Amino acid sequence: MKLLLTGGAVLRDGKRQPVELAISEGRIISISSSLSRDGGAVIELHNHLIVPGFVDVHVHLRQPGFSYKETIASGTAAAAAGGYTAVCAMPNLKPVPDCLESLQIQMDAIEKTANVHVYPYGAITRGEKGETLADFAAMAPYVCGWSDDGRGVQSEERMRQAMERAKTLGKPIVAHCEDESLLTAGWRVHDGAYAQRHNLPGNDPASEWRQVERDIQLVRETGCRYHVCHVSTKESICLIRAAKADGLPVSCETAPHYLLLCDSDLQDDGRFKMNPPIRTAADRDALVEALMDGTVDCIATDHAPHSAAEKAGGLRRSLNGIVGLETAFPVLYTKLVKPGIVPLETLLNALCANPRRLFHLPGGEIAEGQPADLTVLDLERSHVINSSNFRSMGRSTPFDGWKVDAAVYMTVCGGKIVYQEDAE
Ligand code: DOR
Repeated sequence: MKLLLTGGAVLRDGKRQPVELAISEGRIISISSSLSRDGGAVIELHNHLIVPGFVDVHVHLRQPGFSYKETIASGTAAAAAGGYTAVCAMPNLKPVPDCLESLQIQMDAIEKTANVHVYPYGAITRGEKGETLADFAAMAPYVCGWSDDGRGVQSEERMRQAMERAKTLGKPIVAHCEDESLLTAGWRVHDGAYAQRHNLPGNDPASEWRQVERDIQLVRETGCRYHVCHVSTKESICLIRAAKADGLPVSCETAPHYLLLCDSDLQDDGRFKMNPPIRTAADRDALVEALMDGTVDCIATDHAPHSAAEKAGGLRRSLNGIVGLETAFPVLYTKLVKPGIVPLETLLNALCANPRRLFHLPGGEIAEGQPADLTVLDLERSHVINSSNFRSMGRSTPFDGWKVDAAVYMTVCGGKIVYQEDAE
C-alpha cells in the first residue's frame, strides 16, 4: 500500500527543510514540499525530523539458543522502537553460526520473525572457541562480517589466518579485543576509583588495547578490513587514530554507556555490569573527542539482554551485558547534542551513514528510488526512561530513570511502519 508522510522535515546542509514523502513497495517514490494525496494512507508528522533509519552494527538477539533472554522478534521490536531499521547480530548463539547449517537456523528465524533488517555475523572460529577457523567461504554470501564477540581471539596466528581469509572474501573482521592473559582470575569487573573504594575486582585497560595493537599490526600485514567492537579505553583510541592516519582499513565503534558514564557513576547493580566495563572520566572524554574527530566511526549499543535472575547479582555476580536499543538516541541527544558538545550531524553519521558505509549496507539516503528505511525524531519530547516499557525482554540499563529530551516518533522499515509512538 502507498504511504504518504506529510508535515515532516529533513536536514539539508544543516537546515531543516519541510518535505512530504510518498512510499510504495518499500521505496521512496517521490519527495517534494507538497505531494498530491491520491490514495494510500496519509500520516501527519507534526514537523518532526525524518532521518535515514539507524543501523546498530552490534546487537545480541539471543536466538537460536537463548530465547529466554531475547528473541529475534522481541529484539527487533526493540530496535524498531529505538529508531533502528537494521541491526547486525552477533554470533554467540547456540548453535554458533560457524558453518552454513547453523547459520541457516538463524537465517530462517530472521526471515520468519524479524521486524527490521537483520544482518548476521559469522563466527571467526568454530564454537567461538578460538581454535579452528569457521567455514568462512560457505557463510560469506550471507554474513556482514566475522566476529567472535564475547571473547577475544587469543592466538595471534589464528587471527592472522582469519584476516587473510576475510580479506579474500571481502568482508571485515569485527573484533572483541580482550587479552585474557591480562585478566588475572576474577579480574573481570570494573576499574578505576569506584572499584578501588568498594574493593571490586578490576579490569586492566591493557587487556583491550594490547589486542587492538596486535591486530592493527596484522592489518598492516594482511590488508584486511578490521573493525574494533565496543572501544572503551583512551589507549585503544590513540592506536586506532594512528592506524587511520597511516591509511589502514581500520574502523571502530563505541557504545552510549562508554560515552556518557564513568566509574564514579557506578552502582553495585547488575545494570552497570558489561564487558568491557565502564572506565574512567579520562577514557569517557577521549571517546567523545574521538567521536568528534572521526576516529570513532559508529555508535553501536552492544544490546546484550539477560534474564532478571542473571542480572540480580550486583557488579560481582551478574552476567555481563546491558540492553541499549531503546535508549541510545534519547540519551545521546540529551547529553551530547542538546548541550552543544556534539553536533546532531555527527551523531547521525555515527548512527546512520558510517555503519552503512563500513558494512556495505543498503539505504541511508532520503531520495527517490531509495529504500524506505526511515526514522522520525521528536526533538522536543521530554520523558523519563522506564525500562518496564521496553519491547526488549531485557530490562537492565544504567539509563533507567534518566530524564531525556527527545524520542523516536516513528520508524519505517521496508516501507512499513514498524513503530509509532502515538500507537502506545
Ligand atoms: O557485556 C557484554 N555482553 N559483552 C560482551 O562482549 C558479550 C555480551 C553478551 O553476549 O552478553
